[in-house]
Amino acid sequence: MLTEHDLINKGLKATLIAHPLVQHKLTLMRRKEQSSCAFRALLREISWLLCYEVTKDLPLTMESIETPVCSMEAPVLEGQKLAFISILRAGNGMLDGMLDVIPSARVGHVGLYRDPDSLEAIEYYYKVPSQMENRLIIVVDPMLATANSAISAVTRLKQGGAKDMRFVCLLAAPEGIAAFNKAHPDVPIVTASVDQELNDHGYIVPGLGDAGDRIFGTK
Ligand code: PRP
Ligand code: URA
Repeated sequence: MLTEHDLINKGLKATLIAHPLVQHKLTLMRRKEQSSCAFRALLREISWLLCYEVTKDLPLTMESIETPVCSMEAPVLEGQKLAFISILRAGNGMLDGMLDVIPSARVGHVGLYRDPDSLEAIEYYYKVPSQMENRLIIVVDPMLATANSAISAVTRLKQGGAKDMRFVCLLAAPEGIAAFNKAHPDVPIVTASVDQELNDHGYIVPGLGDAGDRIFGTK
């Protein structure tokens, strides 16, 4: 696994969430004997912590309120409701945890699958909230491998008006971060781990296998 220092040395831009709870839960998820049920629960729990980190600089504005004791100026989130965009299928495994933390967020879906031979992302679904240009858009997908899926989703979202985006994943490969940084230098990446490399099939090593299959028990 790469450290922040390794990322700087390789010229890769991504924020690593080294929080011990995130790291411990991620290790439990990697174990091949973990059930789908436990895998889903852990992904949801890690998503709470990732959501907390990726939103820690959201702008606030002051609002006049009445407490039972007196009136006061109190902080509330500024601007339009943010939107979570889930890259199907595996993004949905993170969506529930994100929505636990910000229940009022809007939600969009971009349906993509990787062609197993070319590893190119093929789109099969697209539905996002209105006024994308006025919202913070947080794109979620547990895996950033070649980055073909994330690059394609973010390109599509920009075409749909999105301007202010962040990409949150669980695991990233150095190759995927390099490709994503090049394609979308304006979109920050937040991840729980940067693993060693991709194998010949475009899987993250050591990784955790196929995230969609592990979430939904389809293998
Ligand atoms: C997985 C994963 C990402 C993509 C990452 O999805 O959830 O979307 O692969 O790989 P990439 O960075 O090389 O594009 P997959 O295509 O397996 O579809 P699924 O979520 O429906 O299982
Ligand atoms: N998609 C996954 O689900 N896992 C990988 O390791 C790579 C792409």
